[in-house]
Amino acid sequence: MSNETLENLLHEDRSFPPDPAFTAQANGTADMYAAAEADHEGFWAQQARKYVTWSKDFTQVLDWSDAPFAKWFADGELNAAYNCVDRHVEAGRGDKVALHWVGEPTGDTRDVTYADLHREVQKAANALTDLGLTKGDTVAIYLPMIPEAVVAMLACARLGVPHSVVFGGFSAEALNTRIADAQAKLVITSDGGYRRGAPSALKPAVDAALDHADTSVQKVLVVRRTGQDVAWNDSRDIWWHDAMAAAGDTHVAQGMESEHPLFILYTSGTTGKPKGIFHTTGGFLTQAAYTNSVVHDLHPETDVYWCTADIGWVTGHSYIVYGPLANGATQVLYEGTPDTPHQGRFWEIVQDYKVSILYTAPTAIRTFMKWGSDIPAKFDMSSIRVLGSVGEPINPEAWMWYREHIGGGHAPVVDTWWQTETGGIMISPLPGVTNLKPGSAQKAIPGIGADVLDDMGEPVPNGTGGYLVLTKPWPAMLRGIWGDPQRYVDTYWSRFEGMYFAGDGAKKDDEGNIWLLGRVDDVMNVSGHRLSTTEIESALVSHPKVAEAAVVGANDEMTGQAVVAFVILRQGEGHEHDDNSQIETELRNHVAKEIGPIAKPKKIMVVPELPKTRSGKIMRRLLRDVAEGRAVGDATTLADSSVMDLIKTGLSNPSE
Ligand code: PRX
Repeated sequence: MSNETLENLLHEDRSFPPDPAFTAQANGTADMYAAAEADHEGFWAQQARKYVTWSKDFTQVLDWSDAPFAKWFADGELNAAYNCVDRHVEAGRGDKVALHWVGEPTGDTRDVTYADLHREVQKAANALTDLGLTKGDTVAIYLPMIPEAVVAMLACARLGVPHSVVFGGFSAEALNTRIADAQAKLVITSDGGYRRGAPSALKPAVDAALDHADTSVQKVLVVRRTGQDVAWNDSRDIWWHDAMAAAGDTHVAQGMESEHPLFILYTSGTTGKPKGIFHTTGGFLTQAAYTNSVVHDLHPETDVYWCTADIGWVTGHSYIVYGPLANGATQVLYEGTPDTPHQGRFWEIVQDYKVSILYTAPTAIRTFMKWGSDIPAKFDMSSIRVLGSVGEPINPEAWMWYREHIGGGHAPVVDTWWQTETGGIMISPLPGVTNLKPGSAQKAIPGIGADVLDDMGEPVPNGTGGYLVLTKPWPAMLRGIWGDPQRYVDTYWSRFEGMYFAGDGAKKDDEGNIWLLGRVDDVMNVSGHRLSTTEIESALVSHPKVAEAAVVGANDEMTGQAVVAFVILRQGEGHEHDDNSQIETELRNHVAKEIGPIAKPKKIMVVPELPKTRSGKIMRRLLRDVAEGRAVGDATTLADSSVMDLIKTGLSNPSE
C-alpha cells in the first residue's frame, strides 16, 4: 500500500469529546496519565492494592533484573479465585448475580449469584483435589460457554493448577498437541453445547485426542449439557455432576506466590507450532481488573456487563472471568451465536438484562451492519452506556454505526488493542477522558508505554507508519512461552533492543494517535481469530495429495482477512486446469480436521508453481496480490520470474 493511500484511509476529522456528565462519574481520569508517567512502579503498586486483595502484601513491585523475564509483586501472595469470588461473599454481596447465563435455546437461562459461584468453586476445587490434582499440575478445559467453564477455571486457579483452555472450535488434533505440550493430567469437557440451533459434540474430540498410548491425561471430567449420547471409558471418564456431588462443600483458598502460573493459552505464531503463552497470578489479575474498571468504566454496583468473546480466547480469560469477577461485576454469559434463533438475539439479550457495557469484535459489528439497523431498532437498548471493540482494526464506518445504532448516538466506543501475550488492554481511549477518533485505538493507557518505530528502531514522527512496540514492562505481560524460554526472547525481545515487538504495523496520526494496521508477520487475523499461515500450510502438506502449499491472508470486507491457500498437487492428483472442486473440498475438510473449522481456507487455488526468492522463501506478498485480484507487484527478486505468469495462467481457466 502506498503512503498516499494510507494517508487517505487514515485521515479522520471526526472527533467526539467526552460528555461532561459521563466524565463526572468515570473511573478513568485525565491525571492518571501523568501519575503513571511520573512513577511507573508506584502507579502499578497502587492499582495492585486497589483492585486485588493480597493474603501477603508485596514489598517489591517489579524485578526486571533478569529482563525480559519479569517478576511483578514477587514476594506478595494472593489467591485469584478468592479475589473473584470469596471476598465478594465475605463483603455481604453473595446474593448479587455474577452470571446471567443465557443458553442458546430460547428460555434456557440460569442466574448464578456470587454465593452460588462460591459454593460451586469450592466443591469443584475439592473434586479436583479428590482426583489427585495438586499445585503445579495442569488441566485442559474444552467446554462451551456454560457456567461450569467459569467454575472450572476458578477451581483450577484456587488450587494453583494452571489451566489451559482450548477453544471448542479446535479439532481433536489441535487439542491433542495442546494437551501434550502442557502435559495436562485432566481434561474438563462436556457432552456438547448448542451452536446454531443444534447440539454440537465435544467429547468425541477429547476421546480422539486422548487416543495416544503416551497421553499425560489420567481422567476426563464430563459436564452434561445437551444430554446426547457419549461414548464412555469407565476407567477414565467421570461425570462432573457425580464428582461434584461427592465433593466436600468447603474449601479454604491458600495464597499463591504472585508469580505462580495462572494459565497457559495457546496462540498462533509464525511457525507451525502454537505457542503456549503463560501468565502468572498477581500481575495478570491486577491489570485485568484495573483495565476492566477504567477502560470499560465498569461500576459493579449498577452496570450489567457483557463481553461476547468465548472463554477459549484471551478476551474471555481477562474480560469474562478474571477482570469482571475480581471487580464483582454482574455479567451476561451467552452460549450461542448472534443469529440464533433470529438476527436480533444480541439486542434481545441487551433489552432483557439491561446490558450497559458491551464488548465485542469488529467482525460482529460489520455483520450486524449487513443485517441492517432496523433489527437493533426493534429493541430497547437505552441501557447501553459504553461500547468496546477488540481483536482487529475497526474501520471508521463500523465504529460510527456501532455508536449510532447500538450506542444510541451517545455511548463512547473504546477500540482496545492488546494480545494474548499482553494479558490485558494496552492501547485504548479512556471513556470520559479521551476525545474519541473513530477507527483509532489512540493512546497507551496509563501505566503502559507504546511507540511506533522505523526499521532502525527510531520512533517515527507523527504522520508516519512503522512497527508497534511496547516500551516498558507491564504487570500482565506474558512470562514466557511454556517450555521454550528462548523462543520468548527471540520472538518478542530481539527485533528492537529492550522493547517488546508486538508483530503489528501501526501509524501515528498528526496528533500522535495510534492506528493499528494489522500484522507484519505471517500471522493472519480472521474474524478476530489469530491464525498462522505456516500452521495452515503444514496442515495442507500433511495431506497425501499435496506437494507444496502457501497460505496468505487476503483482505475481506466482513472478516478482516480471509484464508486463501495456493497448493501444488502431487503428480497424478489433478492439475491446475482441471475442475478441482472435489480436491478443494477434501483439503478444506482436512484443515478443519487438523486445526479446526475456523482455519478452513475460504479459497484454495491449485497452481503449478509458487513464487520463491533465491533463498527459497515464499513471496507471500505476490500471492496476496493475486488473492486480492490486484496487479502483481515487483517480482524481480523471484528465483524464476516466469512463475507469476504461470500462476495467473493456471488460474484463468474457465472452471475457476
Ligand atoms: O494484530 C493485533 C490484533 O490481534 C492481535 C492479537 O490477537 P490475539 O492474541 O488473538 O488477541 C486478540 C484479543 C486481544 C494483535 O497483534 N488486534 C487486537 N486488538 C486489536 C487488534 N488490531 C487492531 N485493533 C485492535 N483493537
